[in-house]
Amino acid sequence: MRVHIADHQLISHKLTYLRDKRTDSPTFRRLAEELVTLLAYEATRDVRVEPFAIETPVAPTTGIKLANPKPLVVPILRAGLGMLEGMMRLLPSAEVGFLGMMRNEETLEAITYANRLPEDLSGRQCYILDPMLATGGTLVDAIRYLADRGADDITAITLLAAPEGIVHVTDALKDLKVPVQLVTGAVDERLNDRGYIVPGLGDAGDRLYGVV
Ligand code: URA
Repeated sequence: MRVHIADHQLISHKLTYLRDKRTDSPTFRRLAEELVTLLAYEATRDVRVEPFAIETPVAPTTGIKLANPKPLVVPILRAGLGMLEGMMRLLPSAEVGFLGMMRNEETLEAITYANRLPEDLSGRQCYILDPMLATGGTLVDAIRYLADRGADDITAITLLAAPEGIVHVTDALKDLKVPVQLVTGAVDERLNDRGYIVPGLGDAGDRLYGVV
């Protein structure tokens, strides 16, 4: 897995406010969206394009446009939903599929409880949105899910990642033929014994939407 850690003062500035426990949900949601738009800029560097002939007021020329099939953006429910608007702002013609995953708080394993995705993802570039790469269990399952349906290029965008999670995802996907990339806002110190990222930002879903 190719890993890109954002190295940008504006991203670090916004992440600091996101982490702060005094930040309320409306501000947290706005910051998460802004951060995703900045991360998406890097994540879509290799988005597939095709030539596109146009005429400017001065002369004919050939530019580029997004190729078909259009990229597929896949937020992991629930917390990934908080990243969708920010992503679509940069990639408005992308299609959106949904994957509902949660982790068993005892085993920390990921459970898939819902999916709304095209059956056939052949030739699709997919962008998975999940704010926290903690143990990496959810991300491994999501990536395999998309690759099994034919996705041939997968990028995960996370706001934060734990070193243990990056190692786990890299090891678990060693046999995968599909290229996988991670773009993250920061890599934190570690996971605690409850599987939370330290220092992290707490439970991203709760901070976005409140506790259910
Ligand atoms: N999920 C979260 O929301 N926060 C963490 O720290 C780890 C997983």
